[in-house]
Amino acid sequence: MVHEYEAIVVGAGGAGLYAALEASRTVKTAVLSKLYPMRSHTGAAQGGISAALGNLEEDSPDWHAFDTVKGGDYLTDQSSAILLAEDAVRAVLDLENRGLPFNRTPEGRIDQRRFGGHTSNYGEEAVRRSCYAADRTGHMILQTLYQQCIKNEVSFFDEFHVLDVIIEGRICAGVIAIELATGEVHLFKSQAVLFATGGFGRMFRVTSNAYANTGDGPAVLARRGVPLQDMEFFQFHPTGIRGMGILITEGVRGEGGILRNSEGKRFMEDYTPTLLDLAPRDIVARSIISEIRAGRGIRGDGSVDDYVHLDATHLGKDVIEAKLPDIAEFCRTYQGIDPSEKPIPVMPTAHYAMGGIPTDLDGRVIADEEGGVYEGLYAAGECACVSVHGANRLGTNSLVDLVVYGRRAGISMTAYVKGAPAAPVPKDSDAAVRQFIDSLKAGKPHLRGEGIRGEMESSMTEKVGIYRNRSDMQRVIDKISELRDRINRVGVQYSGDRFNTDLTEAIELRNLLDLALITVQAAHNREESRGAHSREDFPERDDVNWLKHSLIWLDETRVQKGFRPVDITKWQPKPRKY
Ligand code: FUM
Repeated sequence: MVHEYEAIVVGAGGAGLYAALEASRTVKTAVLSKLYPMRSHTGAAQGGISAALGNLEEDSPDWHAFDTVKGGDYLTDQSSAILLAEDAVRAVLDLENRGLPFNRTPEGRIDQRRFGGHTSNYGEEAVRRSCYAADRTGHMILQTLYQQCIKNEVSFFDEFHVLDVIIEGRICAGVIAIELATGEVHLFKSQAVLFATGGFGRMFRVTSNAYANTGDGPAVLARRGVPLQDMEFFQFHPTGIRGMGILITEGVRGEGGILRNSEGKRFMEDYTPTLLDLAPRDIVARSIISEIRAGRGIRGDGSVDDYVHLDATHLGKDVIEAKLPDIAEFCRTYQGIDPSEKPIPVMPTAHYAMGGIPTDLDGRVIADEEGGVYEGLYAAGECACVSVHGANRLGTNSLVDLVVYGRRAGISMTAYVKGAPAAPVPKDSDAAVRQFIDSLKAGKPHLRGEGIRGEMESSMTEKVGIYRNRSDMQRVIDKISELRDRINRVGVQYSGDRFNTDLTEAIELRNLLDLALITVQAAHNREESRGAHSREDFPERDDVNWLKHSLIWLDETRVQKGFRPVDITKWQPKPRKY
């Protein structure tokens, strides 16, 4: 079946919905989503959205921008951070006006809490900048934006999985998707296409990411020759539920929760005496690992099962139930504990990709080292890299990124559509997808990809995690290359058309493998430690040689590497101290 729209948005999380909301004001817009929109992973964002409203104490967008640059270990493009911080205030008030039920101060203003790395006066002390709706902020953003999109008559194609993009030269003309309910392949012609497909934390074994986070957008684009940027920077959130990875929001520490080792000591005093438990995530995650390696984990054996405690008992039941109700429920369900009575066992969990599809400030996808762009091709949200998070994202900046840069991409798409003729769509544009599906159905059937997924997850977790080194990563490059060969011979067990989840999983696994290869190649390449990328063999940050963005092109036979400059317009790089 063939469909025609002026603007197509792939993905129905915060960035996709905001872009669709803008585009649908004036152009015919459709959203394609692998999931029902309300199941998008934005819904899992708990602790808040940052904006320097200054509702409880003095704050300024300039302090917010500075924190974002410093938190990103100076790999953040500064114009991108300044724009984010300035527009965050408008974006939060806009969400409020559209009906988002933020928590309130006694005076009726939007309540705000502290979050890691957010400070007043350029690093002096932690500031209350995160606007929140209990610990369901992302969920509330989704609800708010979805109902506004319905009002604007956006066409939703739910449970449509995009498998390919049509790009001729540097012009995008549409996408190819499979309808999960029927197995039918659909061609969507469109003058402008935005990818907002979210993250790809499922390449790791322990992750806060939903099962659906398989990097479909970046993988599809990478296979069509689009470079991916800064893929070596993957964030490990300090507090996932031990062994499971389910997120325990930083909002717990924002409300006063404390990390403790086996001696009951508040160990962050030894690492970041000013911000303590509210240092940026890369530093807190490494501090936890250091405690465990020193034998001060709760088990004390330094094993993969070791962990530390997040102590919220002093906050009291009333505060926890009012401000962190989902966390209380997760603790009861998955740990059998009440966090107002017992500390929560936690360990870092793979959480967020700082890298992704490179874009300019208007969401246009960048094609080369000189900053040339594709026409009609856009990206926003976690799958994109507008270089606002640099080498390490601050908590709550992801939700701002979605609404600020999702909106800008929507506006930019609309302007492009109005001035551009529809690009021709070559005949047989869907042939490659049909052939790929046929080959999976005809291949030698193996249960769940013949253990390929498990091997990928273990390699990435054990060797491309919080700490990395050259020889381990070389082994992972070899392993992932072998797994990519193997998956080409794997088939699905069920060859029917209706809701073929076996087929979906095989497609997702191929996407993850491609992105895992790019991630480990980028990490192997960067011979320094910066933000979330910690090399045991290169422990120092090296601004002389490495203050630059990396680009990786995926090629059938080799991986091509390139670089782009970092925008340093306001603050010169300094050593990070907290
Ligand atoms: O800890 C959290 O609530 C996560 C927020 C984020 O990743 O921005």
